[in-house]
Amino acid sequence: MMRSHYCGEVDRRLLNETITLCGWVHRRRDHGGVIFIDLRDRAGLVQVVINPDTAQAFATAEQVRNEYVLKIQGQVRHRPQGTVNSDLPSGEIEISAQSVEVLNTSKTPPFQLDEKDVHEENRLRYRYIDLRRPEMLARMQLRAKVNHVARTFLDAHGFLDIETPMLTKATPEGARDYLVPSRTHAGEFFALPQSPQLFKQLLMMSGMDRYYQIVRCFRDEDLRADRQPEFTQLDIEMSFINEDDLRQIMEELLRTLFKQCLDVDLPEKFPIMPCSEALRRFGSDKPDLRIPLELIDIGDLMQAVEFKVFSAPANDVKGRVAALRLPQGGQKLTRKMIEDYSQFVSIYGAKGLAYIKINDLAIGREGLQSPILKFLPDDVIAAILQRTGAQTDDLIFFGADKAKVVNEALGALRLKLGQDLGLVAQGWRPLWVVDFPMFEWDDKTHCWQALHHPFTAPNTQNIEDLQTDAGELLSRAYDMVLNGSEIGGGSIRIHRQDMQAAVFGILGIGQEEAQEKFGFLLNALQYGCPPHGGIAFGLDRLTMLLTGANSIRDVIAFPKTQSAQCLLTNAPAPASNAQLQELHIRLRTTTA
Ligand code: AMO
Ligand code: AMP
Repeated sequence: MMRSHYCGEVDRRLLNETITLCGWVHRRRDHGGVIFIDLRDRAGLVQVVINPDTAQAFATAEQVRNEYVLKIQGQVRHRPQGTVNSDLPSGEIEISAQSVEVLNTSKTPPFQLDEKDVHEENRLRYRYIDLRRPEMLARMQLRAKVNHVARTFLDAHGFLDIETPMLTKATPEGARDYLVPSRTHAGEFFALPQSPQLFKQLLMMSGMDRYYQIVRCFRDEDLRADRQPEFTQLDIEMSFINEDDLRQIMEELLRTLFKQCLDVDLPEKFPIMPCSEALRRFGSDKPDLRIPLELIDIGDLMQAVEFKVFSAPANDVKGRVAALRLPQGGQKLTRKMIEDYSQFVSIYGAKGLAYIKINDLAIGREGLQSPILKFLPDDVIAAILQRTGAQTDDLIFFGADKAKVVNEALGALRLKLGQDLGLVAQGWRPLWVVDFPMFEWDDKTHCWQALHHPFTAPNTQNIEDLQTDAGELLSRAYDMVLNGSEIGGGSIRIHRQDMQAAVFGILGIGQEEAQEKFGFLLNALQYGCPPHGGIAFGLDRLTMLLTGANSIRDVIAFPKTQSAQCLLTNAPAPASNAQLQELHIRLRTTTA
């Protein structure tokens, strides 16, 4: 090895020893004839002192700049009194250099490592420098640990790590596919997997019993802070289990991850909530339980009021009228802030944000302040106050529209109020969300869509129920939600061929299309398929939560931008004509 120790690991135990370090120049200071270099490597910083009497070392040290790569030999000694740095593990000592060798030079870096607020574009373009920053290093280290702990846990529980193809057929997970043209089969394409869903099911049919994989998935979809076009799943499948079995072992996995990575004890049992309850109480199927605010239905109180904005959705089966009480909100929010929140909910399609401010609960109507008071009779107002449990100084917000709009708007408002007003409690609140609808009607295509994926088992054994009750049917899917983030999702699968064929039928996939797309699955289901189910965790999201990062880009070494580009390599990029020709592809030019 070129070095004897890591910079960040040198401490008083090595006093008086001569050691060799390799690393980057973090900072260089000239102090009247003596040069100080903070040398940095993965383990941290150490201070090196170069005296003019070591002439050659000194001459070299005079030349070095930030981010030069050095090899330094020297003796470990105490720092002089008054210069000890208690922030550093190596803060009690320094290295008195005997030799300094430049292993490589560096151009002036585009940003300093300790610079705050570096533009993300710059960070991504020079990612290799960005990754030198201690917080990025810490995130990569934690990510490696998450992978290690998960593997160790799953290995110990009999799961086999099995790889599945990247060049494959489309897996319908609801996004667009990334296609790869075939050279050997003109005009034909592979799809990169949106998930290994079908292969892991086939592995259960192969008798592998328990499978896992840390696997890249590809989805061409609109990107957000918690989505990337390629991302990593911890993908799991098990045979001969039901939902309870799976939940139990996955909770154990999560508890182990949190204990070993953060020394945090997650609860012994994670709560389970039906999707309908989550929407009703929190306006979201991934509620953040750390925020103590809830939506309250008041549609029944509004059916007969004259205010059409409220009475129309109250009388519409797809409508919803809901209230969100903010304790002390009357005190905390100015008029301007209420207006801003009204703007905010309009992003989600809300046409307004009615409110009642309770200045004095005891004196009735006179104690209330609200733009909608004039539309509401006394008994309705009294009922709202009673149902929401309103107190003096509270503020009640209202949403009235299609249920979807109200849920999204008030659900988002709930999160925003929680964050803006510091109502988010400390700690970790995992939750299973279950009992999702099996199908969702798509107004655009006039077809039922699978809410999870088309291989999820319905909550019935009876094929006729699919025909008669498609809109009412629940599925055997489950999501794992942590602090408002969907970190995993899965289901018990269909293991009967006739049921799978029937579900394809409901989804408008005709027999011919089903054969063409999923013939291999429909065949395999006829050769002894065990009952099975599984789950996939979004490892990037999970690591984002564990590290406290704000974006999954911060826990991915080389992520893509919001427009699905890699700024470091400039991918995607044009292909040469020769390549295109080999792939049997002719580009359409816009001018043609
Ligand atoms: P699902 O589509 O819910 O399920 O994906 C599982 C988990 O993967 C994460 N995730 C993403 N993370 C980053 N960027 C993305 N674009 C992205 N999309 C999804 C989420 C999500 O919970 N085959 C099924 C799993 C199964 O049924 O076993 C599947 O892929 O955290
Ligand atoms: P208007 O009569 O349109 O001025 O609305 C009176 C109040 O109701 C205003 O405070 C609006 O912000 C609010 N409002 C309007 N439409 C809705 C809606 N769909 N949901 C909740 N509040 C609304």
